[in-house]
Amino acid sequence: MPPSSKYNQNQIVSKQLVGILGVGAIGSVIAKELSFNKNIELFFFHRSEKKEIQVQFEDKKYKLPATNSFGNLQGNQLDWLIICLKEYHFEGAKIWFEKLIFPKTKITVIRNGMELKKPLLPYAKEDRILECMIDCPVQKNSNGSYLQMKDVQLASVSGDLANDFKSLFFNKKLILQQFEYFKTVTWKKLIESASLGAITCLTGETCWIFEKKEIKNWYQKILEESILVARADGAIIPIDFALQLLKKVKTYPKEKGSSMLTDRLMGRPIELGAKNGVISKLGEKYKIPTPLNDWVCLMLKFTNRKS
Ligand SMILES: NC(=O)c1ccc[n+]([C@@H]2O[C@H](COP(=O)([O-])OP(=O)(O)OC[C@H]3O[C@@H](n4cnc5c(N)ncnc54)[C@H](OP(=O)(O)O)[C@@H]3O)[C@@H](O)[C@H]2O)c1
Repeated sequence: MPPSSKYNQNQIVSKQLVGILGVGAIGSVIAKELSFNKNIELFFFHRSEKKEIQVQFEDKKYKLPATNSFGNLQGNQLDWLIICLKEYHFEGAKIWFEKLIFPKTKITVIRNGMELKKPLLPYAKEDRILECMIDCPVQKNSNGSYLQMKDVQLASVSGDLANDFKSLFFNKKLILQQFEYFKTVTWKKLIESASLGAITCLTGETCWIFEKKEIKNWYQKILEESILVARADGAIIPIDFALQLLKKVKTYPKEKGSSMLTDRLMGRPIELGAKNGVISKLGEKYKIPTPLNDWVCLMLKFTNRKS
C-alpha cells in the first residue's frame, strides 16, 4: 500500500472510494475486478491480517496490495461498501458497519441466502442496499491465493443502484443480470442449493446418490416443503418446479458436489443460516411446518463450528 502521506485530500476525494469488507474468496475476486477501474480507490477491511490479494484466473495471476484500510480513509466517507462475508460472519462484523456506513454510502451485499439487507437496516436506508447473488466458483489454494474458475456472474434486482454498481466494473465479461422480481430468482436458487446441499452433505456423497430412488424421494419431499415456504414469502414458483429440479439433477455429473458438502468434508463451518436455516426460519414466520429443513439443521448443527 502506498503510505498515506503520498495522498493529499483532493486526490482521494476525486476518486470513488470503494471498500471491501470480507476479503476472502469472493472479496478477492471482486477486488481484482475493481482494480481494473483506475477511477476507484480501493480499501480493505479485514479480520485476519492480509498484505496481498492473489487471484489466479485462466492463465493469469493477479496480485494487489490489500493493506489500504480504515486509517487511510483519513476521515473520508466511502462511496461504496461491498460486503462479501458469509452469513455467520455478519454478527461479528457489526462494528465495521458502524464505522463505514454513512448516508452517502451505497452498499452491495454479495452472499448466498435470503434477507441480505436485514442485518444492515439499522445502519443504512433500504434503498441504498443492493442484494447480489454470485455465480463464480472460487477455491482457496494452500498458499492463501485464490483460484477463480469462471467469469463473474452477478444477479440483482433491476434499477439505478444496480446500474451504478455495474458501472464500477470495466471487464466486459463480468455480467450483472438484473431482474424485476429478484426474490423469485433467489428463492429458486435457495430451494435447489439447500435441498441438494442437505442430501449431499448428510450422505457425504456427490450427485451420483440421486440415482437411488429412496434418496430421490427424500429430495422431492424437501424440495416441496421448501417451495411452500417460498410461495408464502411471495416468490413465484412454477407448479412443476420440483419436477424440473428432479429432471435437472439427473443431468449433473455424478461427481458434482455442493458447497455444503465441500465445507463439511474440509471441516469448515457450513453456511446453514443461509440455506436450510433460513427456510426453517421463514417457515416459522409464515406458519408453514418445515420438519425436513428443521431436521437437516439439527443434524448439521453439531458438526458446525462457526469461524
Ligand atoms: N467461494 C465461492 O466459490 C462462492 C461462490 C458463490 C457464492 N459464494 C458466497 O459468497 C459469500 C462469501 O463467501 P466466500 O467464499 O468469499 O467466504 P470466505 O472465503 O470465507 O470469505 C469471507 C471473508 O470474510 C472475512 N471476515 C469474517 N468476519 C469478518 C469481520 N468481522 N471483519 C472483517 N472480515 C471478516 C473472513 O476473514 P478470515 O480470513 O479471518 O476468515 C474471510 O476472509 C458466501 O455467502 C458464499 O456462500 C461463495
